[in-house]
Amino acid sequence: MFRIKTLNKIARVGLDQLDKSRFSVEEDCANPDGILVRSAKMHDYEFPEALRAIARAGAGTNNIPVDRCSEAGIVVFNTPGANANAVKEEVIFAMLAASRHMFAANEWARKEAAAGGDVLTTMEKVKSQFAGPEILGKTLGIIGLGAIGARVADAALGLGMNIVGYDPYLSVHAALALDRRVNVVNNLDELLKVSDYITIHVPLNDSTRNTIDAEAISKMKGSVRIINLARNGLVDEQALLPALSSGRVAAYVTDFPDAQIANAPGVIALPHLGASTPESEENCAVMAAHQ
Ligand code: MLT
Repeated sequence: MFRIKTLNKIARVGLDQLDKSRFSVEEDCANPDGILVRSAKMHDYEFPEALRAIARAGAGTNNIPVDRCSEAGIVVFNTPGANANAVKEEVIFAMLAASRHMFAANEWARKEAAAGGDVLTTMEKVKSQFAGPEILGKTLGIIGLGAIGARVADAALGLGMNIVGYDPYLSVHAALALDRRVNVVNNLDELLKVSDYITIHVPLNDSTRNTIDAEAISKMKGSVRIINLARNGLVDEQALLPALSSGRVAAYVTDFPDAQIANAPGVIALPHLGASTPESEENCAVMAAHQ
């Protein structure tokens, strides 16, 4: 019997993949053979002696000390692609919400109503301040053309956008699966200078940290809208703050807000909601259990 410890709540449909005659699943297991984890941080985790494998129900593995696992002979699995659709849908929402000032408009209506105002009458006078551009015919730059980036490209093409993609690690398999209308460029600058919207879908590591820094921002078009639903640290937010204040960057949608960025102008701050759909939680749990 293999003992599997869960460090987070893992969707039942995933746990049901594990044959009960061979696996026991427990929250409190002192010496498990395997671990199923979602976002619990394992960097200070002391590996139990029996541990052979960790499966992460999610794409990123930055909550797991992969180097230490390798040294100890513990295999780390993730679930690439299992939550790609959920993140793709959030990217489309983010572009539209950032363009059309949906959150600010909603906030206005709620405040006006709470203050006893006649929303139906007043709105016609104020609505011009919430006007924003359509995405049809605009250019979306996608940094990272893996499972998520490719799906974002397909959806945005369907909405009539032009797509420029950049991915120095693009696999042959991923390249062949890409829609031929995606203009894949060889350096990031080419993407930065033509994009009206930029979304980033790469893991966080030493080579991707601060991919969007002051220099990158200086190469972008004015009034660009930037979306980071991938990882905290991919965008240098200290460099972004002045660009948001001046309006050079019209909007920034982030799934990883700290207090400073959440209060900056033009920011839509969301609490890491990319994969928070029942469908993706189930897909990830099933794939992690199979891994
Ligand atoms: C992922 O890495 O799969 C997503 O960021 C969602 C998550 O961390 O749960």
